[in-house]
Amino acid sequence: MHNHVLPGIDDGSPDIESSMELIGTMVDAGYKRIVATPHIYKEFYPNSRDTVSEAFDTIAEKVKEKHPQLSFSFAAEYFLDEHFESLLDQKALMPFRDNHVLIEQGFFAPYKKLKEVIFNIQTKGYVPVLAHPERYPYYYAKPEKLQELQENGVLLQLNLLAFANRYGKEGRQQAEWLLSRGLVSYLGTDAHRMEHLQLLSQLKVSSKMLPQIEACTW
Ligand SMILES: [Fe+2]
Repeated sequence: MHNHVLPGIDDGSPDIESSMELIGTMVDAGYKRIVATPHIYKEFYPNSRDTVSEAFDTIAEKVKEKHPQLSFSFAAEYFLDEHFESLLDQKALMPFRDNHVLIEQGFFAPYKKLKEVIFNIQTKGYVPVLAHPERYPYYYAKPEKLQELQENGVLLQLNLLAFANRYGKEGRQQAEWLLSRGLVSYLGTDAHRMEHLQLLSQLKVSSKMLPQIEACTW
C-alpha cells in the first residue's frame, strides 16, 4: 500500500517496462495486493488525479492480463503542504481502503501545522496514515511523539526497508520500537526501483516480531 510503481510520474518507475518488472517481482514474492501511491508534492511532483489515473491506465490492462489474481489499484502519497490542505478542503483526496489517506512530511522538521491538519483530515472523514515514521530524524530522540500521534488516530506505516538497515541504525531502532509496541498498522515496501525489492528479498527479521508483522497484513 505504499510504492512508486506507476510509470513516469515521480521518482519511482521511469517507464512501463520497469513498472511491469517491479510488479512481477512483487507478485513472485507473494504480494496479493498492490496500491500504487505516487508522490503528490506540488514543488517536485505536481501530480493530480488525472496524471495518476492516466499513468495507472497505461499498465492496468497489462497487469490484469499477466497477474489476474492481483488486486491492483492506486491512491497517492501526499506531502503535507498548502497544496495538500487545499485538496483536503475540497475533499478531493485519493484515498485507499475507502478513506485512508497516506501522508508524509519533510525530513528536516515536522509540518508546522501537523496537529491542525490531522484534525482537519479526520473531520473530513478520512483516516490519516503517516508514511515511514521511522525515517524522520527529529523523532529519533522522542519516539513518544509518534505514539502520541498514533493515540490521536494517526495510523503508522513502516517501510519494510527499515529492517534492511536502509535508513541506518536509528531508523531500524525506531521501526522496532514502534512495531514492538503494537503501534504500527501498515507495512509497505515504498519500492521505487528494483534495488529496493532486491534488498527486501534478503530481509531477515527476528521471529519474535512475526506476530506484530502479521497483525499489519491487510
Ligand atoms: Fe513513498
